[in-house]
Amino acid sequence: MKLFIDTANIDEIKDMNQLGILSGVTTNPSLIAKESGQSFEDIIEEITSVVDGPVSAEVISTEAEGMVEQARELASISDNVVIKIPMTKEGLTAVNQLSQEGIKTNVTLVFSANQALLAAKAGATYVSPFMGRLDDIGHNGVEVVKEIVQIFKEYELETEIIAASVRHPKHVKKVAKAGSDIATIPYGVLEKMLGHPKTDEGLDKFLADWEEAQE
Ligand code: E4P
Repeated sequence: MKLFIDTANIDEIKDMNQLGILSGVTTNPSLIAKESGQSFEDIIEEITSVVDGPVSAEVISTEAEGMVEQARELASISDNVVIKIPMTKEGLTAVNQLSQEGIKTNVTLVFSANQALLAAKAGATYVSPFMGRLDDIGHNGVEVVKEIVQIFKEYELETEIIAASVRHPKHVKKVAKAGSDIATIPYGVLEKMLGHPKTDEGLDKFLADWEEAQE
């Protein structure tokens, strides 16, 4: 399973990218809005200069024509830019058009296996089921990812699954076991995945024993 980072913060991206664990980046309008002092386009351009992999940038228009126009502009920033399109009828119309133009898309705000199936049929490069937000309303986000994995496998659909709205390390482990192609993970969750109290305890003991032997 590939790991993406879900942030528009360049310091967070650089920090995790130096570990060699990242295959891409996803952003959304809320994440972009947190970054001040730079235009949307400049933020996306800077991210593409740091990470060698797909970088998702979301359109703001809610109409197909507007989405396609904005997508063409964003796609001209770099070959690595993937256009995030919301899972609506207008959105799938735009995805269909963009796939014919060879522009890669990531259909976002996916909350069911049927939505993912429709997005794949429309020509989406990626689909992003939102696990955390499904869990928030008492549904099971991991189960939805599992269903999408099963359907895409059964019908050999090429669209890749990005398990999104990741809230904790367990989400990552579960979608990795389920066969998701990708998980897009916030910085804080990646930090939690790195650490373990027994690692800290073990390291402290090794260093203490080493020091004692030097006396
Ligand atoms: C996906 O690409 C979205 O940016 C993201 O995962 C949404 O996560 P949230 O539900 O924590 O906002």
